[in-house]
Amino acid sequence: MFSAIDMAPRDPILGITEAFNADQNPQKINLGVGVYYDDNGKVPLLSCVQKAEEILIATPAPRTYLPIEGLAAYDKAVQELVFGADSAVIQEKRAVTVQAIGGTGALKIGADFLKRFAPDAEVYISDPSWENHRALFESAGFKVNNYAYFDAATHGVNFAGMIADIKAMPAGSIVLLHACCHNPTGADLTSEQWTEVIAAITAGGLVPFLDMAYQGFGAGIAEDGAVVRRFADAGGPLLVSNSFSKSFSLYGERVGALSVVAATGEEAARLMSQLKRVVRTNYSNPPVHGGKVVATVLTTPELRQLWEDELAAMRVRIKAMREEFVVKLAAKGHDFAFVRDQIGMFSYSGLTKAQVEQLRAQSIYAVDTGRICVAALNSRNIDVVIDAIAKVI
Ligand code: LMR
Repeated sequence: MFSAIDMAPRDPILGITEAFNADQNPQKINLGVGVYYDDNGKVPLLSCVQKAEEILIATPAPRTYLPIEGLAAYDKAVQELVFGADSAVIQEKRAVTVQAIGGTGALKIGADFLKRFAPDAEVYISDPSWENHRALFESAGFKVNNYAYFDAATHGVNFAGMIADIKAMPAGSIVLLHACCHNPTGADLTSEQWTEVIAAITAGGLVPFLDMAYQGFGAGIAEDGAVVRRFADAGGPLLVSNSFSKSFSLYGERVGALSVVAATGEEAARLMSQLKRVVRTNYSNPPVHGGKVVATVLTTPELRQLWEDELAAMRVRIKAMREEFVVKLAAKGHDFAFVRDQIGMFSYSGLTKAQVEQLRAQSIYAVDTGRICVAALNSRNIDVVIDAIAKVI
């Protein structure tokens, strides 16, 4: 039977890392995958993570199975981070959280859960969205549609189109939204626009699913999480996937979570029982280490402060790179001022697929759509990137 199986296409993002890894050029630059590199071009090992690991090593523990829903201290810390410790959904025990295998794992648990209980609903994702959103929800069995989002002319959000599309969705539809630092465009909604979106989603009886993989890379941890709290205040249903891959630089540990907001505490208990079934039939229970590290940092005041400072430093460095990118391209006669206004790790640069291919021929890797990871620029490689971009446009 295997002889009839076709070759699958290369993953649009991780496939670029594969090509990058195979490139023998020592000067190669990877602006493809969403990974934060420091100014030396290295993925940082955060001090808060190292200190948490020292604490864990000082108190060695056997590696038993975690509960299906994950480490209790982790789930609690995630809930408090995502919704705010004083939020009504936590006080009223209406939020349930399961530890997940990264943000992607959280989305998959949510997708499988929704397919089981809303099998006829359709999913709507932004146009464009993270490359894996469509594939992930389709593989869970959903029909996936787009809602208007990016306006290539302004490099910002086509809000009129977006809100019109949301208002036209049938009740019960699942709307995937990026809580902050929109991936791939870097174009976020304003607070006033979120107010309209929340009202339209509530009035339309839609199911919001917020994906928050970049909390802290926009304006700050609380600022970026504000939209989740506003959705929670609007009442359920609500699903939130979050990830610590980027904000803790813990990519390979696969640390994320799915939180679901129910109408009552009793409903929440039933939802948790079903989420556990989804986890159990996929991978049984999550791994221990990353969850322990994150829980230790979030619940130890000095480490928590250290994490907030380290995350702020990453955010500030990305903003400085945006500024330098704009200024250096302007000096070569190219207007990329919009990159300054974009938020988070990415810029939808406007480079065409052909231009991206020309860059790749010079060992500079970006996503075919023109998405570049600004967080991979540094003082050593930025001039090379600027020269190459100026040549291809
Ligand atoms: C990205 O968008 O590059 C990251 O979220 C990594 C991934 O898994 O695609």
